Amino acid sequence: MTQAHICFSRSRRTASLGLSEIVVISETAARRRAEGCDIIALSTGEPDFPTPDHVIAAAHAAALAGQTRYPPTAGLPQLRAAIADRAGDGMEPANVIVSTGAKQVIFNAFLASLDPGDEVILAAPSWSSYRDMVTIADASPVELPCPMITGFKLTPQQLEKAITPRTRWLLLNSPSNPSGAVYTAEEFHALAEVLRRYPQIRIVSDEIYEHLSFETFASFRDAAPDLAERTLTVNGVSKAYSMTGWRIGWGIGSTDLIGAMLAVQGQSTSGACSIAQAAALAALTGGQDLLAHRAVILRERRDRTVGRLDALNGIVCPAPQGAFYVFPSCAGVLSRRNSDGEPIGDDAAFCRHLLDNAGVAIVPGRPFGMPGHFRLSFACSDVELDEGLSRIEKAVAGLN
Ligand SMILES: Cc1ncc(COP(=O)(O)O)c(C=O)c1O
Repeated sequence: MTQAHICFSRSRRTASLGLSEIVVISETAARRRAEGCDIIALSTGEPDFPTPDHVIAAAHAAALAGQTRYPPTAGLPQLRAAIADRAGDGMEPANVIVSTGAKQVIFNAFLASLDPGDEVILAAPSWSSYRDMVTIADASPVELPCPMITGFKLTPQQLEKAITPRTRWLLLNSPSNPSGAVYTAEEFHALAEVLRRYPQIRIVSDEIYEHLSFETFASFRDAAPDLAERTLTVNGVSKAYSMTGWRIGWGIGSTDLIGAMLAVQGQSTSGACSIAQAAALAALTGGQDLLAHRAVILRERRDRTVGRLDALNGIVCPAPQGAFYVFPSCAGVLSRRNSDGEPIGDDAAFCRHLLDNAGVAIVPGRPFGMPGHFRLSFACSDVELDEGLSRIEKAVAGLN
């Protein structure tokens, strides 16, 4: 008997979502590499350093000790306590949720709090996942352009103008992916001044790159303690401790919000991996010298990257103050032509040109909400970085 073919139709909330361009580029680079092509991947958002040995040892010990059963939905009590302790400011374990990466913390928060028609304000450029997570939660992202000339940062005037009765969240990310912008405490004070007038708005402060700051790091919670009840601080071990694959992040917020997020988490993952949580606990409570040591290495790579890219005709590369990305403008090369006489056209075509002709993978600015730029990650070995930069120099010089 033949079966009628039933077409799959996507839900309304996921109809507009595709695979992120960042993932597409990274996977294309990985595939070409596996096929034997000589590709330098400067596209991925993860440190090249290894997970520290003592962290791996703690995971091994936890597995051998039988920490292999369902974890408490909110996270291991010792880990929640360590996170609350680091946060200070009277935070208790009840203010903490441990999730499967910082990404899931934000996802839980949006799913737990947003209704159709609600709005979330984002500074563009910003991490492309924010927009998609808001969309999945049936709400609307409101992206405010924060160009290079203003340091890629949101101003209080911009914020105030964008607020409507449906605004539910302001999403701040400092240090920023992709721009590396770091807000000062004074800049947070100025934004907080506006937010005090709109009690319906909560603030997500994504601080996942906290330990990768080249300037003094300010946390929104510390800068505006009177807004602590409305602030969800997001952090995790992925970037600081080179633990992207372990998938542990956390949120710190008011107990009502954390409770609502727990309801979502309880019906999606049942909590984060117990062994990875033991590893995260070891990362947080073990020696922290590696953080400063790695920041020094990254600063050196940043300086080298900025110096070489900014020297290129048509590229403007401001120095990021944190994270491990540069987000240069490539507007000056978009009117040029490749060796076949074809115009480059836009940032996506520029990145494709580099991948196809120079074997370098970088990400266009478009998925971050700012076309005309590209994101290059310098979280790779010195050898790869130098070779990648040399190839970009040669490819840009070859455009007419
Ligand atoms: C700004 C930002 N927040 C959150 C995340 C996700 O972190 P995690 O790996 O803990 O889910 C990323 C990862 O790229 C990021 O760039």
